[in-house]
Amino acid sequence: MGKDVIVACDFASAEQTYAFLDRFDTKKPFVKIGMELFYAEGPAIVKEIKKRGHKIFLDLKLHDIPNTVKKAMRVLSELDVDMVNLHAAGTIPMMEAALEGLTRADGSRPILLAVTQLTSTDQETMTRDLLINEDIADVVIHYARNAAKAGLDGVVCSPLEAKKVHEVCGAGFYTVTPGVRFADGEVGDQKRVMTPAQAKIEGSDYIVMGRPITQADDPAAAYERALKEFTE
Ligand code: C5P
Repeated sequence: MGKDVIVACDFASAEQTYAFLDRFDTKKPFVKIGMELFYAEGPAIVKEIKKRGHKIFLDLKLHDIPNTVKKAMRVLSELDVDMVNLHAAGTIPMMEAALEGLTRADGSRPILLAVTQLTSTDQETMTRDLLINEDIADVVIHYARNAAKAGLDGVVCSPLEAKKVHEVCGAGFYTVTPGVRFADGEVGDQKRVMTPAQAKIEGSDYIVMGRPITQADDPAAAYERALKEFTE
């Protein structure tokens, strides 16, 4: 696995999502389903997209007591998704419990990633609201190291952090990176962006791209472009 483009399907309904996915007739992209769509449409949308032949990253960012996360992960694992995530802030026991819950009777399980600090959290809010006085870059790396210690497969991070995460957690520890834009495209509300080609150089294992593909006039062409830039 690894070195793939994940398309963030940030749509409000199943109809919009299926209409978008219908535009891909050759290669079926790996897709990311977030909270909005999952809470609106439920497990049925995951099953339908799976049936259509897509891999799925279910981006629900679990964070609760270990026992609750373990049981919730068991349910998600049964949905046969390929990738799920949680907040590393839930601590190592929670991450270990999540892995236990995810592991199926035959030993297989989805890839499990940790979110370190959300990119919406900056140094100031982290210090003021969370009373964490360390440097935010160190906190991100510390959380990544915790995730690796707990046995997780990788983290969601900025492509700018991918090299450092690999140095600390090993080359086989996945970095899944949003904040990717085409060189000639709109940046939108993302602050620090990289092109797919730059993310490749930084060592990202998977890039997550939403609007540059979902809002493109020709989504399949935009997807092929991202895939080519990132993997060739
Ligand atoms: O449309 P865009 O390419 O900005 O979409 C990026 C996707 O990655 C969205 O689903 C967004 O919620 C998600 N994401 C992000 N930054 C993070 C974590 C997740 O943009 N740090």
